[in-house]
Amino acid sequence: MSVSTISWEEGRVKIIDQTQLPHRLVWLYCGNLSSLWRAIKELKVRGAPVLGVAAALGLILGIKNSKAKDFKQFSKDLDRTIQYLSSARPTAVNLFWGLSRMRKVAYEHRNESIGRIKNILLKETFKIMEEDKRVCRQMAIYGASLIKNKDRILTHCNAGSLATVDYGTALGVIYKAKEQGKKISVYADETRPLLQGARLTTWELLRNKIEVTLICDNMAADLMQKRQVDKILVGADRIASNGDTANKVGTYALAVLAQAHKIPFYVVAPLSTFDLNLKSGKDVPIEQRKKEEVTHILGKRIAPPKVKVYNPAFDITPNNLITAIITEVGIFRKPYEKTLSKLAKRARE
Ligand code: MRU
Repeated sequence: MSVSTISWEEGRVKIIDQTQLPHRLVWLYCGNLSSLWRAIKELKVRGAPVLGVAAALGLILGIKNSKAKDFKQFSKDLDRTIQYLSSARPTAVNLFWGLSRMRKVAYEHRNESIGRIKNILLKETFKIMEEDKRVCRQMAIYGASLIKNKDRILTHCNAGSLATVDYGTALGVIYKAKEQGKKISVYADETRPLLQGARLTTWELLRNKIEVTLICDNMAADLMQKRQVDKILVGADRIASNGDTANKVGTYALAVLAQAHKIPFYVVAPLSTFDLNLKSGKDVPIEQRKKEEVTHILGKRIAPPKVKVYNPAFDITPNNLITAIITEVGIFRKPYEKTLSKLAKRARE
């Protein structure tokens, strides 16, 4: 029962306002660039793949009223918009991937009229959305080949339909396994501070009639010790050329636990999440978010006002802890420096 997380409707970007879930399914219409920027910043739209789509659509909002008469002027409006959108969130590389793909298309058509370039760019966003749908389903086919009947899968944050156009990465694998007739049950980490697991993952799994049990993040170790988890599946925000993976903070702890308990740990991510220019995870910019996300839960203060806070939104899982990375072009295993180098070669071609 998939819903469209993002679409283009009559000149506006239509998104599910994810901050309202699970209480209310509300759509938000962003008709200008700054409202879309805020929606990204405030996690109304979130999750790496859909940020690529949001950025591309945001670029359309940014240039739609451009009065440029020639490409030189137009490229200034384009670059200003790209710079602005790039400042919304730093870690998910998909956002930058979406923007640079749009920029490339604009430059490829630089000799056309500005009106035509705007049309071509809008068409490109439709292509990006269709690709996302296709790519998620392809990853799901590869991923589901690793899933057995009755597997109990633990996941972190939300890597589902809400993080993509309509299907999901890690949760897409679970949807596919279910379609194949496998009975799957899921443990969803609540994912403090912003509770994407508790609010979003459980919501979409229940809608899709998948058995799900919500746990606090600090309960995962206990479950693993009791042999209640068969596999861990997570998404990614940025994967370096050596396979080091940035994902929602707390992912690294799960990977360490998985190794200690000999449980397979899989990352599911499209090629648009790879940043093959980066040698390792050390180079990934990690978003630091405001202290109120930690001192408060859903608007209610839970800590003394003057306490210091550390609030990185993501952490890095080193490649040696990752059993395999599932993509739309296949499943990659260690040594990632070697196996992923094929992707780097492909990107250069
Ligand atoms: O801060 P968020 O909610 O945007 O973080 C999202 C995640 O960390 C997801 O796991 C990741 O983007 C993969 S989504 C397919």
